[in-house]
Amino acid sequence: MSETTQIARGLEGIVAGRSSVSTVDGVQGRLVYQGYDIRELAELSSFEEVCFLLWHKRLPDSGELEELKESLAAARSVPPAILELLEMLPPRSGMAALQTAVAALGLLDPEADDVSPPSNARKAVKLTAQVATIVAAFHRLRRGLPVVEPDPLLGHAANFLWMLFGEKPEKAAARAMDVALVLHADHEYNASTFSARVTASTLSDMYSAIAAAVGTLKGPLHGGANEQVMKMLEEIGSPERAEEVIQAKLASKQRIPGFGHRVYKTWDPRALILKRYSEELGRARGQTLWYDISLAVEQAVRKEKDLYPNVDFYSASVYYTLGIPVDLFTPVFAVSRIAGWTAHLLEQYEDNRLIRPRAEYTGPMDLRYVPIEDRPPRQATA
Ligand code: ACO
Repeated sequence: MSETTQIARGLEGIVAGRSSVSTVDGVQGRLVYQGYDIRELAELSSFEEVCFLLWHKRLPDSGELEELKESLAAARSVPPAILELLEMLPPRSGMAALQTAVAALGLLDPEADDVSPPSNARKAVKLTAQVATIVAAFHRLRRGLPVVEPDPLLGHAANFLWMLFGEKPEKAAARAMDVALVLHADHEYNASTFSARVTASTLSDMYSAIAAAVGTLKGPLHGGANEQVMKMLEEIGSPERAEEVIQAKLASKQRIPGFGHRVYKTWDPRALILKRYSEELGRARGQTLWYDISLAVEQAVRKEKDLYPNVDFYSASVYYTLGIPVDLFTPVFAVSRIAGWTAHLLEQYEDNRLIRPRAEYTGPMDLRYVPIEDRPPRQATA
């Protein structure tokens, strides 16, 4: 590697491929799925319709949408072996459980290694339907509760809440969940999507690629931030304490979860929509504390640093108000992002090239091998 090689740490600013799934305009604060602005989709569309859009690169007609809804509903039940596996797992991490279950789904699928477009299209539907079932079942099993059978009459978002809580959600809750799923469905070459594409680029199978993506989403710098946000809101406890706590965190060089973004240098459009839902849901349920603390944190961070909330900031109070346990926030992110991951995988397999960057070597060169019996003990050389 020459001395003039430019290194983009964290691949910042690097365009690593072409994609028509979605694009982010970090200056204008826009997110576009296949040409459609996320604000319009959040207002007018549904998660199922967004799945169709991401997978087929166009909006469906009403017959096609009905067909996809039926296919998703028909694919919701997971094999009994997956439920047995989930029951055996420690209750600690929904993301680790999801990753394990996705890998196991691959082992149970006889066509797992078939990466042809029709087979991958079937897997996109199956994985999108079943990630929701796995997250809900894992949570119920770890609480010693019976698994709730999916209800084919409910849409994806409402059915997820039904499988999680065992109660039919009210309209406003189902709508808020649906909007959250629409907003989280895709985000260009984010870390977990890139991870999925790297895995697929070796022509490994779709389940392996999704398992890799789940592991990547788990981290607190990515999807794991939504859980950290809620822990911080709980730690702050009241809007009056927000400024003091934020100042102390920033003074000790801590990162504020839910703020900052590699691409957005302004408001993340998803955060603006979720902010509205956080307030509206809070008011509807007579509990605006989490919205009020969030707002105070937003103002404190904006005052101290030029950082805007990202998607994980206001999703935390939305999920909390919906009654979702904090340690399921990141798995809920995956319940949505599976749509985008699978859309990117369809694209990757269709026009694949191995993703394999280079590293600038910083280790020594030209050392001579010394047989082990001739090497001095480490302590003596220290
Ligand atoms: N709190 C405090 N300071 C921050 C934050 C934050 N949340 N985010 C960025 N900064 C500061 C950094 O300290 C750095 O300042 P410096 O130049 O004075 O050292 C500067 O902003 C740039 O930060 P980088 O780490 O270089 O930005 P990068 O693009 O690598 O990181 C990231 C982006 C990881 C999202 C970062 O903003 C962060 O850690 N945020 C908190 C975690 C989070 O919310 N992640 C979710 C992102 S959205 C998603 O993945 C779904």
